[in-house]
Amino acid sequence: MRIISTVNELRDGLAGQRVAFVPTMGNLHDGHLELMRQARQYASVVVASIFVNPLQFGPNEDFDRYPRTFDTDCDKARSLVDVLFAPTVNDMYPQQQTLFVELPDIANELCGAARPGHFRGMATVVLKLLNIVQPQVALFGKKDYQQLHIIRQMVKQFNMPVRIEGGETVRAADGLALSSRNQYLSGAEREEAPRLYRTLQEARSSLLRGERDTERLQREAIGVLADRGWLVDYVSVRDRLTLRAAQPSDHDWVILAAGTLGKTRLLDNIEVCLPG
Ligand code: PAF
Repeated sequence: MRIISTVNELRDGLAGQRVAFVPTMGNLHDGHLELMRQARQYASVVVASIFVNPLQFGPNEDFDRYPRTFDTDCDKARSLVDVLFAPTVNDMYPQQQTLFVELPDIANELCGAARPGHFRGMATVVLKLLNIVQPQVALFGKKDYQQLHIIRQMVKQFNMPVRIEGGETVRAADGLALSSRNQYLSGAEREEAPRLYRTLQEARSSLLRGERDTERLQREAIGVLADRGWLVDYVSVRDRLTLRAAQPSDHDWVILAAGTLGKTRLLDNIEVCLPG
């Protein structure tokens, strides 16, 4: 595995090669590693990046304390990727970034409502990373479902020559979606955390049993979590492909949820496809 930090060196190193790319913010867990394994099926060269992007963190968010574990990350990625791109903030933003991707209204809903500007910063760095690495395929986890949706739209609407693949969420044995932020949880919070996915599974079962009152479903799920001390941002049933609010005639949904336990904000989602 070659570690490269500058844009020029990366461009020279990858010239003319077919590349599959996994962008990350580091603190690698099995979810990231699974994307790196999948990447191998798409290209002879697998590139991953580690860059904690200041542009996608709000002023009161966890940019400073976001876990940075570069040496362990290198050990984990070594057998899976050929090139690790690890730029500094100065390599990525040699001048002040004054141009941004302007996003549709969906970026202000769900996680965007709680994190103003987050998706603008995320989309801007993903656009830059895709321009720098120029992969044929890029892989992102489905745990960040809204992020994946926005990236797919950006690539489609800007005719970017890259195929986007979504990887299934990797979970701990008790169902908790793997996330770098899980390590902020106290022992008691870690025990409580899998309730988020269990609540989504119960909401999914209700939809499959024929429940169509999505407002009630959302209200009840929020109630279950709030009773256990969660500060719930949203539980929302959406059309799976457009992320618009679900209509009774829909057949393909995704139920998305985000909430804070103690000081840790967790998110998760579950897809629901009706047969036929
Ligand atoms: O999902 C992440 O880790 C980040 O949002 C991404 C896509 C690497 C952009 O910084």
